[in-house]
Amino acid sequence: RQGKPLVIAIDGPSGSGKSSVSKAVAKRLGLAFLDTGAMYRALTWHCLNGRIDLHDAAAVEAAARTISLEQNLTPEGEFVKVNGITVTEPIRDPEISKNVSAVATNLGARKELVRRQQAVIAQCGHRIVVEGRDITTVVAPQAQARLILTASEEARMRRRGLQLGGTQSAEQLVQQVLARDAKDSTVVDFQRAADGVYTVDSSDLDFEETVTAVINVVRSAVNEG
Ligand code: DC
Repeated sequence: RQGKPLVIAIDGPSGSGKSSVSKAVAKRLGLAFLDTGAMYRALTWHCLNGRIDLHDAAAVEAAARTISLEQNLTPEGEFVKVNGITVTEPIRDPEISKNVSAVATNLGARKELVRRQQAVIAQCGHRIVVEGRDITTVVAPQAQARLILTASEEARMRRRGLQLGGTQSAEQLVQQVLARDAKDSTVVDFQRAADGVYTVDSSDLDFEETVTAVINVVRSAVNEG
């Protein structure tokens, strides 16, 4: 919690390596870490588990306002709890990935989750890496460093395939990566960098090279700001 404010906002499409790269950057710089996608996934899990109709906008928004959400705020020891139930693993199921866009496109639910995310940033003394889809534009437009981490469609599908242990067909991967991004893009623009937002393309970089590239961008942004 000590030191100057350093909020690093990272957005990007699924399969861009956002999550693991953001964690590594937080570790390297000694910052807190927030995975905002996990919050949308946890809310989706809660709705499915409680038989809340994902297309009942008012019901989903009410759930967003009332559930208790807990998650790791450090880059180590990933956990997510909804109303005290550990959902760390279930929220990564393809079933959740398939349904999460219905929740992510609910503007009332977004507003509430954004409010919670901003509270976490304050709670962490504004020294945190936050990753998601609307962090550079909505959640933390004042962040000291803002960047979009992207990769070619081919690289993203390959990585997501590896992440899921090679269990998915090409067809399922298209569904889980490209179709989901297309749906999510209707409410947030995470493909194009807003003014003052840097872009790191990881298509031809390995993990370590990507982490280094991000840290270099953070240094430039902080020096310019
Ligand atoms: O990054 P992820 O795959 O865990 O994100 C899950 C879903 O949540 C994804 O479909 C988009 C949505 N999301 C969002 O709309 N805004 C965020 N800040 C983070 C995630």
